[in-house]
Amino acid sequence: MARGMNMLVLMVLLGAAIQSCSAQTTHVVGDSLGWVVPPGGAIAYSTWAANETFVVGDTLVFNFTTGMDDVAKVTKAAYDSCNSTSPISRWTNGPATITLNQSGEHFFISTFDRRCSLGEKLAINVSAASGPAPAPTTTPTPPAASAPVPTTTPTRSPVTYTVGDGVGWNVLVNTTQAYELWAANKTFMVGDILVFNFVNGTQNVAEVTKSAFDSCNITSTISVYAVPPVRITLTTPGEHFYTSTYPNRCSLGQKLAITVSAAPTPTPAPSTTPTPPAASAPAPATASATTPTRSPVTYTVGEGVGWNVLVNTTQAYALWAANKTFMVGDTLVFNFVNGTQNVAEVTKSAYDSCNTTSTISVYTVPPVRIILATPGEHFYTSTYPDRCSLGQKLAINSFSTFYHHHAFSNRLCHPSVHRQLGRLFERHWLVLGDVVCRRCVVVLDYSSLLFPPFTAW
Ligand SMILES: *[C@@H]1O[C@H](CO)[C@@H](O)[C@H](O)[C@H]1NC(C)=O
Ligand SMILES: *[C@@H]1O[C@H](CO)[C@@H](O)[C@H](O)[C@H]1NC(C)=O
Ligand SMILES: *[C@@H]1O[C@H](CO)[C@@H](O)[C@H](O)[C@H]1NC(C)=O
Ligand SMILES: *[C@@H]1O[C@H](CO)[C@@H](O)[C@H](O)[C@H]1NC(C)=O
Ligand SMILES: *[C@@H]1O[C@H](CO)[C@@H](O)[C@H](O)[C@H]1NC(C)=O
Ligand SMILES: *[C@@H]1O[C@H](CO)[C@@H](O)[C@H](O)[C@H]1NC(C)=O
Ligand SMILES: *[C@@H]1O[C@H](CO)[C@@H](O)[C@H](O)[C@H]1NC(C)=O
Ligand SMILES: *[C@@H]1O[C@H](CO)[C@@H](O)[C@H](O)[C@H]1NC(C)=O
Ligand SMILES: *[C@@H]1O[C@H](CO)[C@@H](O)[C@H](O)[C@H]1NC(C)=O
Ligand SMILES: *[C@@H]1O[C@H](CO)[C@@H](O)[C@H](O)[C@H]1NC(C)=O
Ligand SMILES: *[C@@H]1O[C@H](CO)[C@@H](O)[C@H](O)[C@H]1NC(C)=O
Ligand SMILES: *[C@@H]1O[C@H](CO)[C@@H](O)[C@H](O)[C@H]1NC(C)=O
Repeated sequence: MARGMNMLVLMVLLGAAIQSCSAQTTHVVGDSLGWVVPPGGAIAYSTWAANETFVVGDTLVFNFTTGMDDVAKVTKAAYDSCNSTSPISRWTNGPATITLNQSGEHFFISTFDRRCSLGEKLAINVSAASGPAPAPTTTPTPPAASAPVPTTTPTRSPVTYTVGDGVGWNVLVNTTQAYELWAANKTFMVGDILVFNFVNGTQNVAEVTKSAFDSCNITSTISVYAVPPVRITLTTPGEHFYTSTYPNRCSLGQKLAITVSAAPTPTPAPSTTPTPPAASAPAPATASATTPTRSPVTYTVGEGVGWNVLVNTTQAYALWAANKTFMVGDTLVFNFVNGTQNVAEVTKSAYDSCNTTSTISVYTVPPVRIILATPGEHFYTSTYPDRCSLGQKLAINSFSTFYHHHAFSNRLCHPSVHRQLGRLFERHWLVLGDVVCRRCVVVLDYSSLLFPPFTAW
């Protein structure tokens, strides 16, 4: 059974190798992370995708172990809600190689357990293929391809971006960072088109200088476009700044800054060829190894801005936390002026509703140093009036440190065992990400050793 699975993996790998000869670019989803519940949540894959250029004909490789995970192509709605009821397609053999044969947005999720809602989801935008420009590159391939395979690097076709997507070009009541966030994961190139949608007579689009943009002093402009939809073709590389000349629009957040690159850039070749998996070797029966452990990190919440209500944004702490990995043993430092703030750890519901009538703990003397003692979600705000609703709130997810790799018998890598492990961990830690069963290696968090020995299963 296990031997059969290994053969299957090998066959899939060989298939991938054959396919990659004709493919344009092979994107290994998440790079070395693979297709897992990412430690920091879904941002891992959106950050990864933001850095890649997907063109029709490219292939995605979702690296997971057959039976332990899967990948499903779904609609945007299913992606947003993590609804795996009726996927468009589903791949159950890992690593799954998927050829992108259509332009536009593509959405992928894992249908296993709560993996999607824990961040195992990927959204990409695929542009239409254009004339391939030959360039040598190294394709990551398993040992079947012993020599680097020359392949073609696609140039990128112009992309039409609808600014703000569905919300259009407007002042948004709930945020001043809508356009900053919208632009954050996009690549703009000369030849691309920006489309600004708005109701005729209620807005305009003004291209302005950086200083006008920064100060929101819009007395002079580079160009103003008044008739919607405004279509601006990006003709020059460098920074471009857009806002509206209507009163207060700029300071209310109706402003977009983008950086346009000179020309379609070839997808960078991987600097190193990933070590091919030893797919044909049987998994070790019993073994134990430790991963390099990570030293505790001290994080200064908000860095230089400290712990405060920030006039210009309600998302400062969400953005601050977004690209960080918190682990048990790490320290959070909250800096503020004595007597002007406090730090309250609260429940998720108190955090979500900004009802701070009851708290888990309150720390009043700055600098507040909190050592993350337990894995899972932690929520912090201030009990001072209105601070929470003005954005002085921080949610983090801390993971158990001191990972141990335990290689078990093939029997223990059976999907049903993995599901038991997943449920166990969900129940105890709410962190499915602490358990990753790959190639018959179960990665467990150290504290799991408190649980009954696995031979019980
Ligand atoms: C870009 O970010 C937005 C929201 O932050 C998200 O909805 C979208 O899927 C992201 N796109 C890509 C390609 O990651
Ligand atoms: C994006 O890619 C560049 C070049 O390949 C790399 O230096 C950079 O670290 C990447 N950024 C992220 C966020 O992965
Ligand atoms: C999930 O999607 C299916 C079909 O697409 C739909 O019938 C079902 O109501 C959805 N479930 C939820 C919870 O939205
Ligand atoms: C596009 O890819 C999907 C999934 O990879 C496949 O089901 C479909 O048949 C392909 N379409 C074409 C036209 O090749
Ligand atoms: C802000 O409101 C718009 C609709 O006006 C909505 O699409 C968007 O998700 C909201 N953003 C946040 C951060 O709540
Ligand atoms: C748009 O509004 C302007 C006045 O603000 C008006 O002159 C123009 O005719 C309108 N155009 C359209 C297409 O409605
Ligand atoms: C706005 O900028 C103009 C020049 O572009 C300058 O003359 C004016 O003083 C500035 N106004 C303010 C309030 O800074
Ligand atoms: C897939 O993951 C395994 C380890 O989990 C690794 O050895 C292998 O190189 C990865 N494959 C790719 C294509 O990244
Ligand atoms: C908000 O203001 C702080 C200083 O109070 C500054 O450091 C930060 O860059 C500003 N953020 C934005 C998005 O303007
Ligand atoms: C996290 O984001 C900040 C600003 O957005 C950036 O300065 C920092 O380098 C990022 N850190 C990592 C680890 O990507
Ligand atoms: C901090 O402020 C409190 C009152 O808000 C005061 O009792 C305490 O002495 C102050 N501590 C320091 C170190 O200034
Ligand atoms: C706030 O939470 C407390 C319990 O923690 C509850 O008694 C109170 O009704 C809540 N207030 C509001 C406005 O929901």
